[in-house]
Amino acid sequence: MLQFVTMPKQKPQRKLKIKPDVPAANEEELVRNQTADILRSYSGERRNLIPILQDIQSRFGYLPQEAIRQAAKFTRITEIGVLGVATFYNQFRFNPPGKHPIKVCLGTACHMKGGQIILEAWQRRLGINVGETTLDREFSLDRVACVGCCAMAPVTVVEENIQGKVSPTRVDGILLSFDIEKKQQETTEGDS
Ligand code: FES
Repeated sequence: MLQFVTMPKQKPQRKLKIKPDVPAANEEELVRNQTADILRSYSGERRNLIPILQDIQSRFGYLPQEAIRQAAKFTRITEIGVLGVATFYNQFRFNPPGKHPIKVCLGTACHMKGGQIILEAWQRRLGINVGETTLDREFSLDRVACVGCCAMAPVTVVEENIQGKVSPTRVDGILLSFDIEKKQQETTEGDS
């Protein structure tokens, strides 16, 4: 059985940099245009709100603020009302997915083997909470139920890869491998 030690609270270790792929102004315009495009295939009846939100999420990977605003206007529901509906269903995200999505399993087996401690380790290292994305959009953090690999508990899904028997040290190792990969990429791009 793995032994875990509860780490004292400390400042996030990961340095965050704002480096979005698309400049903010362009991104808002892109969201506005693409949301208008989605809304064109619906009538403005309230019963269409959930399918509209689902389409928006599948287009952007989350519900951008601007898209929520447009959906609210279109269905004649207040923005608060739309947010209320969206937060009721845990299928919706309110932050863009990271380039490397991290999903920590908190199903029964993983929970029993210290899944919560692993989740806290990710939160500390990334400096974000569940449902959030780092400012550089490299990582997003989510919680999932059983992913079917209970014998490997506690499990974290990193991108599409199952990582079993995860410990806080392993969390550091995974992040370090991403850092190394990124530095190598930057070096290669700098050379070309
Ligand atoms: S409970 Fe985590 S994989 Fe089954």
